[in-house]
Amino acid sequence: MENLSVQLTQNPKEKPAKGAKLGFGSVFTDHMLLMDYDKGIGWHDARIVPYGPISISLAATCLHYAQETFEGMKAYRAEDGRVLLFRPEENFKRMNISNERMCIPQLDVDFCLNALKKLVWLERDWIPEDKESSLYLRPMCIGVESKLGVKDADNYLFAILCSPSGPYYATGLKPVKIYVEEQYVRAVRGGVGFAKTGGNYACSMLAQSVAHEKGYAQVLWLDGVEKKYIGEVGAMNIFFVIDGEIVTPELDGSILSGITRKSIIELLRHEGYRVTERKLSIQEVAESYRCGKLQEVFGSGTAAVISPVGELKWGDEVMIINNNEIGPISAHLYQELTDIQWGRVKGPEGWSVEVKE
Ligand code: PLP
Ligand code: COI
Repeated sequence: MENLSVQLTQNPKEKPAKGAKLGFGSVFTDHMLLMDYDKGIGWHDARIVPYGPISISLAATCLHYAQETFEGMKAYRAEDGRVLLFRPEENFKRMNISNERMCIPQLDVDFCLNALKKLVWLERDWIPEDKESSLYLRPMCIGVESKLGVKDADNYLFAILCSPSGPYYATGLKPVKIYVEEQYVRAVRGGVGFAKTGGNYACSMLAQSVAHEKGYAQVLWLDGVEKKYIGEVGAMNIFFVIDGEIVTPELDGSILSGITRKSIIELLRHEGYRVTERKLSIQEVAESYRCGKLQEVFGSGTAAVISPVGELKWGDEVMIINNNEIGPISAHLYQELTDIQWGRVKGPEGWSVEVKE
């Protein structure tokens, strides 16, 4: 790539040992990608440099007014050594949707994708070979103009970080416990719920820490107006299997349009399952539970992959789903998706993208 410079580290770090238990997102590789934006010039000076702290003004817009967006994707190591990405273009397209909402300039999707591939190739030895582990990739855009006035910035920084990571949930593929949040809300239609932006996560932390204290992994958000309709979970979209129908909340602008969500809907429909994207109230879920029709609940996300939900707590009601065991559809989807992501099975055209020199 012509417009991408590479400065190699002089101090390569020790990589995690094979088989070492990797957490999520706490170890970073030797290099990162940076690119600047200045009004009147556009995006420029894309560079791969040694990983480390950067210097920005304490008056940067991202620090005060949360003008920032991010993405989450993974590089997988196939058994035959190939390095694979899963639908990476979708992440940069979604970043542009988030950027538009947060008043951050549009990125050139092809350029970002090629730059990402170059970075991943450089860091390929950091991709864990262990089952369920991968190199988590975190593209991000932040407003860095030094100015306290509330206005979109004139200067931005785009970065990509790489972090060898294990499963998002410490429990791995074991069913997680989810708390239905009734006091706080995450997003409303017309707001920024569909954008992958830091504020959506900042506003979720209080509810999440309360849920953690009560022994729940994450919260399930209800709609911000009536607190009635199901939205999504802290870091994943959510699916319910009710009497043979697979239901997931529709994309109404208040939830993230998950790439895993979209992929599994496509896979399931192709296999003949009935998948419906619609409004789904927590009352309907509870009623279907009470009459024995709630068969499975699972979340989907890049970090979370397919996460079976074993317990849902809504007010005083505790719903134990499928005996707190992984259900057949969740197990099938987990296998099918990870087979495609790790290159064991060829998925639909264009989903698996190989990174080569
Ligand atoms: N919803 C939220 C709030 C998320 O943070 C994520 C993770 O990115 C998802 C859903 C799932 O999206 P994806 O499947 O694109 O990773
Ligand atoms: C992802 O699944 O990639 C996410 O970004 C979720 C979370 C870690 C914020």
